Amino acid sequence: MTSRCGSRWSDRVRSRFGRRAAGYEGLARLQRGMAWRLACSLDDAARLPEGPRADLGAGSGLLSAALQTRHPGLRHEPPLQLDLCPELLARNGQGEALVWDLNEGLPPRLRGAALLASSFALHWLEQPAAALGQWCRQLRPGGRLLLAVPTAGSFPQWHAAAAAAGVPCTALPLPKPGSLREAATGAGLELQHCRLLRFSRPHSGGLNALRQMQRLGAGATPSPPLAGAQLRQLLAHWPEATPLTWNVLVLCGRIPPETHR
Ligand SMILES: C[S@@+](CC[C@H](N)C(=O)[O-])C[C@H]1O[C@@H](n2cnc3c(N)ncnc32)[C@H](O)[C@@H]1O
Repeated sequence: MTSRCGSRWSDRVRSRFGRRAAGYEGLARLQRGMAWRLACSLDDAARLPEGPRADLGAGSGLLSAALQTRHPGLRHEPPLQLDLCPELLARNGQGEALVWDLNEGLPPRLRGAALLASSFALHWLEQPAAALGQWCRQLRPGGRLLLAVPTAGSFPQWHAAAAAAGVPCTALPLPKPGSLREAATGAGLELQHCRLLRFSRPHSGGLNALRQMQRLGAGATPSPPLAGAQLRQLLAHWPEATPLTWNVLVLCGRIPPETHR
């Protein structure tokens, strides 16, 4: 593995995922389901152009595993497994691994990519819409993008509990679906599939919901942590047995084959 990683935010994200890497796959049911959905949305893998392929924010490799199960032809040239977190990549047997901070852009070797796939990773970047535009501009004519990303409007139960308790909501700010769509089409992507999906995870109340995120390694947030009393206030206003709701944008498309760039 080679490495290029940078900012303090990236360090925080990496250390959270790293500490929980061993348990990630056992808990990542939503991510596993989304990986399969993305793999099924690629209808013509055999017609991908020549060129680099990569899973961006690949983690333990759920998306690439699904892609190669659904499209065995991809096994001849598995996507590059790129991620910030070496501990997750160490559990990833799907292809060549590269430790890389996507806040620094894409590595030069992905210029003219034929396939860029990413599931549940873009929202961890400092500027998700700008990064998505850059990803699309790196695709070659005929190249494909497969993306799943949680978006703004997720976790209404958490936001409501924080407002009712009068404490800050420390949920990770998520990108707006419209800004992602605009970034992709503005960079020349022709949309083939763009849907906002809503999932509810059956957590019994706030404490379980927050614990589940911590156990996944997905607990980093730019906000200062709540003090103990604030946390108790939050949980007191988060009704027991409420689910936690995620909005997930699935956006798939290609650069038209005739594009000159
Ligand atoms: C929720 S996991 C998703 C992993 C995998 N795509 C999946 O669906 O199971 C988020 C992943 O994004 C990676 N990530 C977060 N910030 C990143 C960055 N700046 N550069 C590269 N990877 C990043 C994390 O290390 C983690 O593996």
